[in-house]
Amino acid sequence: MIRSSVDRLHPYTPGEQPKDPSVLKLNTNENPYPPSPAVAETVAALDPADLRKYPDPVATELRQAIASLHGARVDQVIAGNGSDELLALCTRAFVEPDGLIAYLEPSYSLYPVLGDIADIRREPIPLNPGFVADFSNVPAAGLFFLTNPNAPTSMAADPDAIRAFCESFSGVVVIDEAYADFADTHCLELAMRLPNVIVMRTFSKSYSLAGIRLGYAVGPASLIEALFRIKDSYNLDALTQAIGLAAVRDQDHMRRNVEKIVATRQRVTGRLVDMGYQVLPSQANFLFIKPPGIDAEVLFQHLRSQHVIVRYFPGGMTAEYLRVTVGTDEEMDEFLNAL
Ligand SMILES: Cc1ncc(COP(=O)(O)O)c(C=O)c1O
Repeated sequence: MIRSSVDRLHPYTPGEQPKDPSVLKLNTNENPYPPSPAVAETVAALDPADLRKYPDPVATELRQAIASLHGARVDQVIAGNGSDELLALCTRAFVEPDGLIAYLEPSYSLYPVLGDIADIRREPIPLNPGFVADFSNVPAAGLFFLTNPNAPTSMAADPDAIRAFCESFSGVVVIDEAYADFADTHCLELAMRLPNVIVMRTFSKSYSLAGIRLGYAVGPASLIEALFRIKDSYNLDALTQAIGLAAVRDQDHMRRNVEKIVATRQRVTGRLVDMGYQVLPSQANFLFIKPPGIDAEVLFQHLRSQHVIVRYFPGGMTAEYLRVTVGTDEEMDEFLNAL
């Protein structure tokens, strides 16, 4: 009764959301600071009577605001129910049933699951031992997911290497920039210039809005139009559209929070290095760290016993590391104490 690909599927495992408020939660790269005050004003001003009506199916106002932020046309932008929805749409829109999806390994662990759900062949491209992407090994594929900065490594790839890869690749490259607001560089210019590049962004990290589920993609109008064709009619509810619009219009608030997180990232990196940890050079709102003289999984369990939850990815290249979200300065002091 159940489709065999679904029956075989190992579903995506989201990071734990503990109910205990005393837990220090550094496991899902959420932003420790609240979203723009304009978000609270938008929610307070909402008239529940307006919820009788369906929302704008194409989120026009929100997309216009995003387009003008990036100097794009509105037909180059689509918004979705988290970037997760848009990533799933890409697997459906850009790969033939007998095609191939490729992605870096390690990177966001949703990509292989999306391939499996669509029952499409997939090929992980291992990072080199220094966690650097080597694009020379990427086979011809319908779709390549390029996470930049990468998760869980926190590192950004060389912009010249990304450009050269995108220019030579025959399929669609989705550059997943969930963490780009915390980085020194981004690839929007490629999405505006090349016929095969889409850049994906999310409101879950820099805008402190993981709870509303909002992401967007910017790219060539023809590719964006293909995503529009197959999306659910009303993929974004009215509240999400209104909140997203308020947040995107308050760039100053988002930038201030990003600056605080980047400053904390620098400070904690220094402390960890002093304590003998190996810390990969982070361009994101999290750190990927290798503890000195102690097994990463043992340390993960120890932190848990201290009510500090970080992320551990067993097996392969990630087994000796922990991924730690950058919280407030106070939270990070608590984390350092627990170490
Ligand atoms: C690389 C990457 N892409 C996408 C997402 C998901 O973003 P969203 O919350 O918009 O679905 C995440 C979330 O952790 C991520 O790490």
